[in-house]
Amino acid sequence: KIVSASAALVEKGNYRHFMEKEIHDQPEGCQHTIAAYIDPIAGRARMAGDVDFAALDRIQIVACGTSYIAGLVGKYLIEKLADLPVDIEIASEFRYREPALRPGALAIAMSQSGETADTLAALRLCQAKGLKTAAVVNAQESTMAREVDVVWPIHCGPEIGVASTKAFTAQVSVLTALAVAAARARGRIDAAEEQRLVRILLEAPRLIAESIGLEDAVKAVAVDIAKARDVLYLGRGPMSALALEGALKLKEISYIHAEGYAAGELKHGPIALVDEHTPIIVLAPYDSYYEKSASNMSEVMARGGQVVFITDPEGAKHAPAGAKVVMTAPASDPLISPLVMSAPIQLLAYHVAVLKGADVDQPRNLAKSVTVE
Ligand code: G6P
Repeated sequence: KIVSASAALVEKGNYRHFMEKEIHDQPEGCQHTIAAYIDPIAGRARMAGDVDFAALDRIQIVACGTSYIAGLVGKYLIEKLADLPVDIEIASEFRYREPALRPGALAIAMSQSGETADTLAALRLCQAKGLKTAAVVNAQESTMAREVDVVWPIHCGPEIGVASTKAFTAQVSVLTALAVAAARARGRIDAAEEQRLVRILLEAPRLIAESIGLEDAVKAVAVDIAKARDVLYLGRGPMSALALEGALKLKEISYIHAEGYAAGELKHGPIALVDEHTPIIVLAPYDSYYEKSASNMSEVMARGGQVVFITDPEGAKHAPAGAKVVMTAPASDPLISPLVMSAPIQLLAYHVAVLKGADVDQPRNLAKSVTVE
């Protein structure tokens, strides 16, 4: 119901589906998000509201679905840059157990709609335990936005497609700015380093646009993926979160069984699935995890797995021989590589679903906003 109401007010333009439009909206969406959280003149990240990052013991993120995966990416960045512990949990689990919460933590709800019932309940549980609360939401009039101490809007404009795309990159953009702001507040980086990171973040919209430019290559790959029964997504570090997101997107809209795995966990189970019929999407920019991911990629290829390798120019240069397809996204600093690497996996799910004739914007059994338990 919510979908059709807002869909009437938002135009698809020249796109066939809202999801396609929203994928293509991301450079601009990300630009809006960043503009709200970055002062480009001073070269500083700024998080509105009264949160003293230096005084925090830890952050507790609660979320569902794609918002949860955005939170996972945030955990990597916040812990690495700010040395601030981040716990993250699926809201439907968190709300029904007895989590050990202390008032020195900040609770952050991640939610596109700001209405997801489980996330709201998890947030209220944190509030009841005396935690300060924040919400990273798209809908600024939402229940979550009203109930928290601090609202950090993602500013990407309305998202209509049930499968979240531009809200994901906007959520990740907010958490990236937060990681930089927290790092500065906690004395982990100086002003010059903050300026350097801010400059990198400002490059994200242009690089996202470049990575959307892989669309034709992705379309060609989609023809094979559309025939698969199972698809495996692998990555390490923040790319392990993106592997989850790639698999989730494919399941949601194309109904193909997909699993995202941290590549190091391959040998503990999923490698048993690999045969010559299994497409394996490996996400690995040329970063500190690259060698390890490349060696996992060789392991699956040795077992006949058909690898689609999504990397960057340097990664492509060092790629182990044998990948069926190598897709080269633009080179980017690890700070923003989760943003840059998102578009290819979103586009892949989209084009596979289109080839299968699925209802991309309204997948079966799913709702844009789940306001029941
Ligand atoms: C539903 C949607 C997903 C979304 C999840 C969380 O399952 O289909 O796209 O990620 O809810 O929604 P939220 O509004 O809390 O981000």
